[in-house]
Amino acid sequence: MKSLFIAGNWKSNKTITEAMEWLRNFQFPISNFQLKNTSIILCVPFTLLQIFKEQIKESGLPIALGAQDVSPFPEGAYTGEVSARQIQEFADWVIIGHSERRKYFGETDTLLKEKVLHAKEMGLKTIYCVPDETTIVPAGVDVVAYEPVWAIGTGKTDTPQHASHVTSVIKQKSSVATVIYGGSVTPDNVAAFIAQPFIDGVLAGGASLDPQTFFKLIVVASSPS
Ligand code: 13P
Repeated sequence: MKSLFIAGNWKSNKTITEAMEWLRNFQFPISNFQLKNTSIILCVPFTLLQIFKEQIKESGLPIALGAQDVSPFPEGAYTGEVSARQIQEFADWVIIGHSERRKYFGETDTLLKEKVLHAKEMGLKTIYCVPDETTIVPAGVDVVAYEPVWAIGTGKTDTPQHASHVTSVIKQKSSVATVIYGGSVTPDNVAAFIAQPFIDGVLAGGASLDPQTFFKLIVVASSPS
């Protein structure tokens, strides 16, 4: 059975009160479920990192924490930025190069390379998002997420077969061993992606916002069909 990597990306959602409610509802089912060969990473907004870190420690939740972005600069006079050194106080992972960062904030491959560099220097593990197999993956990336832009938040997914083909090309070109798929993943379609030989897991947006849905997605993904 292959190792699975299941990540949730909360994007710009949830207050502390809402996050605590989510945790209350996620904690019981996940703590009573036997996770085999499955890593769960939850990437929350910066404002929720501290409370999540505390809660994970306190309740022994079997999940790792991630941020969704990192500054391309070290700590210093960069108003509004959060540096890798600050993030590593709370999280082990960071998403870099999400298509929403590329689209709404004009992030370029050159800038993203700097982000990866700083994240690595501070010991953060990186999930690097690419919209296709032609996008260059910087050296040192730990996990690549193939996320076709048209599939994000639209309810339309790539076909599992095509997604597997793209991930296999990404693996060959980048030599990154773990490549996952993202774009409208749900408990109903996740098994078809996981069944593909070159897909090592998924990055879920909308489906991670509801604790029951995210738990269901994890159960389906980690149960061999
Ligand atoms: P959705 O699962 O909501 O389509 O979002 C995918 C995504 O962008 C995860 O990073």
